[in-house]
Amino acid sequence: MASAQNLLQLEALAREKLPPQVFDFIAGAAEDEITLARNRDAWQAIQILPRVLVDVSTIDTSVTVLGQTMPSPVVLAPIAFQRLAHDDGELATARAAAAQGTTMTLSTMASCTIEDVAAAADGPKWFQLYCYTDKAVTERLVKRAEAAGYSALCLTVDVPRLGRRERDFVHNLGFPDDITPVNFEGEVDITEIPLGQRGSALSAYAASLLDDSLTWDDVDWLRSLTSMPVILKGILAPADAVLAADHGAAAVIVSNHGGRQLDGTPAGVEVLPDVVAAVGDRLEVLVDGGVRRGTDVLKALALGARAVLIGRPYIWGLALDGEDGVAHVLEMLQTEFELAMALSGATSVAQINRALVR
Ligand code: FNR
Ligand code: LAC
Repeated sequence: MASAQNLLQLEALAREKLPPQVFDFIAGAAEDEITLARNRDAWQAIQILPRVLVDVSTIDTSVTVLGQTMPSPVVLAPIAFQRLAHDDGELATARAAAAQGTTMTLSTMASCTIEDVAAAADGPKWFQLYCYTDKAVTERLVKRAEAAGYSALCLTVDVPRLGRRERDFVHNLGFPDDITPVNFEGEVDITEIPLGQRGSALSAYAASLLDDSLTWDDVDWLRSLTSMPVILKGILAPADAVLAADHGAAAVIVSNHGGRQLDGTPAGVEVLPDVVAAVGDRLEVLVDGGVRRGTDVLKALALGARAVLIGRPYIWGLALDGEDGVAHVLEMLQTEFELAMALSGATSVAQINRALVR
């Protein structure tokens, strides 16, 4: 881990450490992985046009998201089953994030409970929701998150069904007995779910635990259940972002789920400007997918994002060195972002605007 100079180098290091099926579950994406590749290419295609002779002796990287001040515009994306990467799983992620004031998003499909993660560290947290077919179960998950102090509800809208991750089929991805979607315990008999029959335990879980009949009405229903602001994750079409605003979402995350769902979509950052133009100030816009460099964070903000989320890089950090590994990833990205601001002549995020990119 110490030999890594940047986030991009972590994947190769993690590959050496993790069992192949776990590595491929994390690294992999849907079908031909065209969208996965696009998520990196898209950032590289954007140029930064820096301003010079600005006093950059003091840089303020803080942002405000959903009314909360964050020291940096980087949020940890929800990642399922983190105990596959490291025994401490989501608990280590929570501790590393809290130490830096970074917001983490806990997946419904976490391998640690909502309550244990809340108790592990008192940093800012969002809860990512997958809805179960029985609405009463979903309602209890939402209430548990609210009671445990999670400050926003992030409904993932791009997984009515799981995308085809063919790497998982090749391995016949299975999970160790002690790694389960624990948040469903007491709600659903997860031991009854026939794993492996579909060539991927994850797709078996998804088929049993996720409701593929969700509509915009369910967004209204969720809002009626909670006072947490609702974020919709997995929006790409500007028209859907407008609907999100119409249905009272506080924010959208422009995302293709790290290329793991529908292959052939654009990268989030490619549609970000259109989404921002469509919604204006009606809601906040965040973006994820392939964010690996401080300059990517700068580009996202210049194109109108409030913040970005990172997924795989912090899981590689977790796999390599637990809590310290996650902390190291956050530090590297923050150092790069602060430097990118200085070299662009921006001393606060308010100065990162459309004129900075082309
Ligand atoms: C994910 N992602 C995800 N998203 C979500 O809403 N709920 C989840 O449980 C998961 N689980 C998950 C597991 C793994 C192994 C990966 C790689 C991704 C998607 C994730 O939140 C995010 O959108 C992408 O990972 C962002 O892209 P990068 O940063 O990984 O390129
Ligand atoms: C994934 C699901 C669980 O991408 O969101 O693996």
